[in-house]
Amino acid sequence: MLKSLEKCDILTIAGTRPEVIKLSELVKQLNHYRHVYAYTGQHYSENMKDIFFDELDSSSDIDLCCNTSDIEIIKYKIIDLISKIKPSLMIVYGDTNSSLAGALAATETKTKLIHIEAGLRSFDMRMPEERNRIKIDRLADYLFCPTTLSREYLRFEGIKENVFVTGNLIVDVCQKFARLDLKARNNFDEDFILLTLHRAENVDDINALKILVIRLKEISHCKVIFPIHPRTKKNLEVNKIELPQNVITIDPVGYLDFLSLLKKTKLVLTDSGGVQEEAIILGKPCITLRHTTERAESILMGANRLYPLLQNSEDFVSVVDEMLNIQVRDHPYGKSVTFKTVNIIKNIILQPSVKIHHQV
Ligand code: UD1
Ligand code: UDP
Repeated sequence: MLKSLEKCDILTIAGTRPEVIKLSELVKQLNHYRHVYAYTGQHYSENMKDIFFDELDSSSDIDLCCNTSDIEIIKYKIIDLISKIKPSLMIVYGDTNSSLAGALAATETKTKLIHIEAGLRSFDMRMPEERNRIKIDRLADYLFCPTTLSREYLRFEGIKENVFVTGNLIVDVCQKFARLDLKARNNFDEDFILLTLHRAENVDDINALKILVIRLKEISHCKVIFPIHPRTKKNLEVNKIELPQNVITIDPVGYLDFLSLLKKTKLVLTDSGGVQEEAIILGKPCITLRHTTERAESILMGANRLYPLLQNSEDFVSVVDEMLNIQVRDHPYGKSVTFKTVNIIKNIILQPSVKIHHQV
């Protein structure tokens, strides 16, 4: 439910599972201000949306119920909301279609825009996320980078003003909930590999799916737990692809169950951005099933390896064995990130160019 349709100062937009998770602690702090948290409804299934609001004790003030990733549809719903609540400042996170729709809506309504998770680059323009994040960075008035590397990418693109290195909000969320005793949340013994896969380049391509099956058979001595994204499930079904017996598929799980799996696993196989980050934060080695990543820091630290399903000539079993033996001791994503982020937002609010109607 919308708090009120009166004017607000800050409008935050989320639309997918990772945004709900990563913004959950920040939103709690922003709620001390005149803040509206709007959910676009790009992800709409109970196990891709509601469970995360519930478990992370977060809730949106309005659900725009778009039930689509169509940027124009989402944008017009956000513009309609902006016309009612007239925020002085908008916040979008990351690189999804909802984030781009929010950024375009901010630009069209001349609302100041903060982009959190700015400056990530995979240098693969075939990925919708890469095109989205570049566009959002160009539209943003304030750019919050998770690492110094992302700030450097922006600098090379000529974006130097109002760029802040804050760290990655996932650190606070992940560490807070990983501290809980989550052992009883799954019955799997500790000797398994955790797999997630949802990128178009992997799951919309029947050849990539067939190679996935071959690679998973090659590690038939390892049990693989695979919480399966709806997009992936649909494509496996449509293409009648069966996964080998060492793979246990489960529906997408809530955040606490996922963290319990991450804490127990020996190794992560993924094409997810967020899962690459959480793996290194929780000290787990990772193999990223892509030919590039916008999260190069963990590769540079030796905690993550690229293994593109379609192009790899390296022996998969050897790569898995090698990564199973990697000790991950550090992560590049900072500390007290929510606190730092809120402080910078406070300073932005106090700038004369951002008109806030009452002192915060
Ligand atoms: C989107 C983001 C991607 C992000 C991912 C997080 C874009 C371009 N992509 O990808 O960056 O990493 O979310 O998971 O914004 N579906 C459901 N229920 C849902 C959501 C999706 O069944 O709640 C199915 C539908 O068939 C839908 C398909 O998944 O058509 C793809 O959903 P979509 O939001 O377009 O893209 P994702 O692959 O989820
Ligand atoms: N996640 C989850 N349950 C699952 C799979 C993933 O809670 O079954 C969480 C995971 O911990 C991470 C986020 O979802 O925080 C990543 O989302 P996703 O991989 O869909 O998107 P990406 O990060 O690639 O944009």
